[in-house]
Amino acid sequence: MTELPAYGVPDGAAERRVYASAMAQSFGGTLEVFEPWVEAFGAGVRVLRDDGVKAGLVIYEMGQYFGGRSIPCWGIAGVAVSPELRSSGYAHKLMAENLRENFEQGPPLSALYPAAPRLYRNLGWEFAGSRHKYTYPIATLARLDGPVVLRPATADDAELLRGLYARRYRNENGCLDRSEKIWERVKRTPKENPVFTYVAEHDGEPVGYTTYFQKREGGSFHFDLHVRDLVCLNREVAQAFVTFFAGHRSVADNLHLYAAPDDPLLIELQQTQEIRQTERMDWMLRVVRVKDALEARGYSSGVTAHAQIKLIDELLPENAGNWVLKLDAGKMQAERGGAGEAELDVRGLGALYSGRFAPAQLRVAGLLRGGESSDAALSAMFAGTVPWMPDYF
Ligand SMILES: CC(C)(COP(=O)(O)OP(=O)(O)OC[C@H]1O[C@@H](n2cnc3c(N)ncnc32)[C@H](O)[C@@H]1OP(=O)(O)O)[C@@H](O)C(=O)NCCC(=O)NCCS
Repeated sequence: MTELPAYGVPDGAAERRVYASAMAQSFGGTLEVFEPWVEAFGAGVRVLRDDGVKAGLVIYEMGQYFGGRSIPCWGIAGVAVSPELRSSGYAHKLMAENLRENFEQGPPLSALYPAAPRLYRNLGWEFAGSRHKYTYPIATLARLDGPVVLRPATADDAELLRGLYARRYRNENGCLDRSEKIWERVKRTPKENPVFTYVAEHDGEPVGYTTYFQKREGGSFHFDLHVRDLVCLNREVAQAFVTFFAGHRSVADNLHLYAAPDDPLLIELQQTQEIRQTERMDWMLRVVRVKDALEARGYSSGVTAHAQIKLIDELLPENAGNWVLKLDAGKMQAERGGAGEAELDVRGLGALYSGRFAPAQLRVAGLLRGGESSDAALSAMFAGTVPWMPDYF
């Protein structure tokens, strides 16, 4: 019998089951739930072996928008090691192997929501954006008349919704270019809570949509509205949806939704200076292949700039060393060379690339050191919207 490599796709149902039980125990669920979940990822599952499966993860193949372009990205999730096997370096080894595979055969970026940031930081991931949940008492929402009408969506609207989502979010740094699996998460119906979708139209033209479910809190018949997606192409659409949610005030208490830290939607929702942000989670980004990632990103066509950096990347030495970045007419060229007087850690590159940190902030975080002559150019190149996403994966 040939020996299986230390890292790879599970070899059949038995190995998938070992990973599924580690998942179930690690994330407080049951094998009945996690086994089909793992099965559904098919070739997107990876395990680490050391005399049997010791750790595993799943890969969401997706894109992430930066500078208005979709950059292919692996979304890593479900990293799990059974409790009795922890602190032996298995998760580190699994992620290091995954990073190598990603560099050699995968897309230029990798993103994840970390439960243990240190594990990923050690390998070059850094916080690069966030996900914010806002909660509004429905009784406080304004009701306004306007030209936008809402209609329940039908199964035929699937492509329409995807088009509206992309029109609204492709220009927001960090938002996902959703794959089928990510869309499945948005559409998934929670037990006993049907999901509703409404399309907004203006003179027959689709201009937005919302997808939400209703959930009872406590023993009363009152419920809260939990919005999965709220896409508004303009202010009238936002007003129409706020009015629609306000119409639930006799039976619903709170509206929960995900929006950017400074989302234009908040202009409609925020009636006082206090914002009730009920959840914030941050995601990490890893620039896996530097040249591909830099050249695939979108940039302002109004910026012409030239920067030189020395990149520090201990895990992927192919990325490390001196680079010259030339931006002109919205097109980036990343070439080897230059003096590299500014030293940028690959973790810092992730935060710079997403638009989370400008060079001055990277210096405070210790992720950019040395000569400052390229700081202004780097600032101008990566300036843009605050990175975030409405999705969790
Ligand atoms: C998090 C988890 C995957 C770590 O697995 P592990 O094999 O014990 O981790 P390793 O031994 O490879 O440790 C790698 C690094 O991560 C750090 N780390 C490990 N577990 C951690 C935890 N729970 N919290 C914070 N840091 C942690 C270690 O300190 C180590 O860093 P160091 O070498 O600088 O000290 C494991 O504890 C687990 O499965 N937890 C439950 C599920 C979970 O939280 N998964 C992560 C989802 S993103």
